[in-house]
Amino acid sequence: RRVAILISGRGSNMAALIRAAGGPDFPAEIAVVISNRADAAGLQKAQESGVPIEIIESKPFGKDRAGFEAKLQQALDARGIELICLAGFMRLFTAEFVQRWYGRMLNIHPSLLPSFPGLDPHGQALRAGVKISGATVHFVIPETDAGPIVLQGAVVVRDDDTPDTLSERILGIEHRIYPEALRLLAKSQVRLDGDLCRTSAV
Ligand code: GRF
Repeated sequence: RRVAILISGRGSNMAALIRAAGGPDFPAEIAVVISNRADAAGLQKAQESGVPIEIIESKPFGKDRAGFEAKLQQALDARGIELICLAGFMRLFTAEFVQRWYGRMLNIHPSLLPSFPGLDPHGQALRAGVKISGATVHFVIPETDAGPIVLQGAVVVRDDDTPDTLSERILGIEHRIYPEALRLLAKSQVRLDGDLCRTSAV
């Protein structure tokens, strides 16, 4: 399956996906990394890994989300993309774009959804005093950081955690579960059952 990874920044999840996809028997190929920001640090990492990159800046489109998405869709079509992984992609999509890719677009969020969607999930978790947090890979629906859950991984929250230390530990989990979730999707071992995602025996 041909996959596009969409990024806006650092790209550590992107790098984990590229690494996994380079392994033997991985059922998907990272065909392109697309950034909506020219200064995303992940772009250089992608290039170093030999993955084609494209920059489609969203800023010039302002509030014209559909205009940006038309350009994005063109790039995805041109490369025969079948699946999309959002990896720190900081731009919201229209419901139309999400609908078009429903069941074929994944996102990762650093909390155990449905807890703590949106910004500063680590700070939200610490302020709530939860003792366990983690990361979630889910199918994208129009609502932000929601949608059928594919995989989750947990970490214990320590009393002395700061958003930075918690984020670092959760990132380790993210880098494990995102490639695994993509593997499941690419092998059609996950399927949507209403609002839920079911995984067949692996
Ligand atoms: C990750 O924590 C991801 O869960 C969230 O944004 C961050 C992106 O980090 N959506 P990176 O660019 O993958 O390093």
